[in-house]
Amino acid sequence: MQIVRNSEELAQARRDMKGTVALVPTMGALHSGHMALVADARNGAANVIATIFVNPAQFGAGEDFGRYPRQEERDARQLEEHGCDLLWAPSVGDIYPDGFATKVSVAGVSELWEGEARPGHFDGVATVVAKLLLSVRPDVALFGEKDFQQLAVIRRMVTDLNLAVDIVGVPTVRDSDGLALSSRNAYLLGEERKEAVALPRALQAARAAILSGTPVREVLHEARASLRNGGFSRIDYFALVDASSLKPLDEPEGEMRLIAAATIGTTRLIDNLAI
Ligand code: PAJ
Repeated sequence: MQIVRNSEELAQARRDMKGTVALVPTMGALHSGHMALVADARNGAANVIATIFVNPAQFGAGEDFGRYPRQEERDARQLEEHGCDLLWAPSVGDIYPDGFATKVSVAGVSELWEGEARPGHFDGVATVVAKLLLSVRPDVALFGEKDFQQLAVIRRMVTDLNLAVDIVGVPTVRDSDGLALSSRNAYLLGEERKEAVALPRALQAARAAILSGTPVREVLHEARASLRNGGFSRIDYFALVDASSLKPLDEPEGEMRLIAAATIGTTRLIDNLAI
């Protein structure tokens, strides 16, 4: 696997590639969830490019940019073992050189849920993903359903800007107890890791209750109570939403998703489930 650091090296390596290219953008601290994206990329394209870039623009003041786990050597080994051909690991200065002044902002779907809890977050995501897509010009780019709203924001941006890339969503990879894999699970201390399973359990229970006809308001109330009882201190949202617009639903209708964000100890976790 070739490792490139700056845009010039990337452009050169990209020019040398023959056949289709799949892109897997990440912030590193890679786990089996990221590797599922790489495996799908490997299945569908002649060349697989992964990026590792802890993007400062998508972290708010007081968030975990400084302590976000960084382990590039280990990440590079994992990527190579899973058949990645090229790793692009740029510096902050390479992505945002002096004078950088452009922002990609997706209205509507960005403004709900995570957008409310983390102002500016999706502008940072959309800007860096636009830049990665335009630099690599892949045929396909893969994103996890784990970050369901992020996937919706990226699909909207790619449609609106006529970017010639297929966006593929990959199902969430979970630990054996049901907790969605996340680089941020490394922050969970002691009992918190066990308690965190209350989040996927609440989603599963809510899904079952909705399918059996329990009123949505009642289901969501029960889910929030079970998170609090399970050790979560703050619940940013636990909602039933339309799977494409992400607007909240009072009644079951069409393609739906349960989405949730809640904090245990000092760790904020997000998860979601299809209905
Ligand atoms: P990061 O959190 O590193 O995630 C990189 C990709 O892996 C995202 O598409 C994410 O949805 C996916 N992913 C994470 N955990 C997963 C899991 N358990 N199962 C399946 N897929 C999973 O998301 C980002 O980075 C950044 O916002 C990025 C898109 C790279 C822009 O900076």
